[in-house]
Amino acid sequence: IVSFFRPKPLTGRRVLLTAGPTFEPIDPVRGITNRSSGKMGFALARAAQQAGAEVHLIAGPVSLDTPWGVVREDVETAQQMYDAVMQAVLNCDVFISVAAVADWRVDQTSTHKIKKTAEQTVPSLTFVENPDILASVAQMPNPPYCVGFAAESGELETHGEQKRTRKNVPLLIGNLGPQTFGRDDNEVTLFEQSGITRLPRADKTSLAASLIDEIARRLPDASL
Ligand code: CTP
Ligand code: CA
Repeated sequence: IVSFFRPKPLTGRRVLLTAGPTFEPIDPVRGITNRSSGKMGFALARAAQQAGAEVHLIAGPVSLDTPWGVVREDVETAQQMYDAVMQAVLNCDVFISVAAVADWRVDQTSTHKIKKTAEQTVPSLTFVENPDILASVAQMPNPPYCVGFAAESGELETHGEQKRTRKNVPLLIGNLGPQTFGRDDNEVTLFEQSGITRLPRADKTSLAASLIDEIARRLPDASL
């Protein structure tokens, strides 16, 4: 009922989001992953839908319900997430990259479960780098408006702006990871060319609504 009266600044816009972690297998029963509950990404998907957008959410392994009216696609690995994003990104107006993508995957995954040995030797793993999904989208010829997220463990101010310019995105939303993982609230800083904006700590639902408003205000005029 409340959302009925809310202005819909994303009417007619297509929004693509990634959310959650990725899972990179080691063998059929083991893997490595990143810390992410998916709550922030799912809250943003819901807020974008409530703001009138057509929303496509590509999610890594999370245990969250699909927000009403959102098209959801589940993936496991970074490579699968990359492929799904590249399939979906054309014709999108906005890409919000919230996923905590694993930076590396195991080079040679084992097709059988690796067994402990009597000699108690431990296996060693070699890694290869995963594609950078956000940077790849930002490099496209006519990219959507790209929004990145960064969870840092300290020195947010320095890392945030450096990351934004490195990824070549107009807006990067930064937070201190340990202060947000698994929690229902978050405190974020917006990094953009013109400078930084700090948003007050808020629960992820109202923060998502504020962030969607901030993003909507920055979009180029729709009447083109
Ligand atoms: N990202 C991505 N694909 C990757 C890695 C990151 O799309 N392979 C996106 C994330 O979704 C996020 C942004 O890039 O929006 C920043 O992610 P982050 O892990 O903070 O940046 P990295 O460049 O991987 O740097 P770091 O070494 O700090 O992990
Ligand atoms: Ca990373």
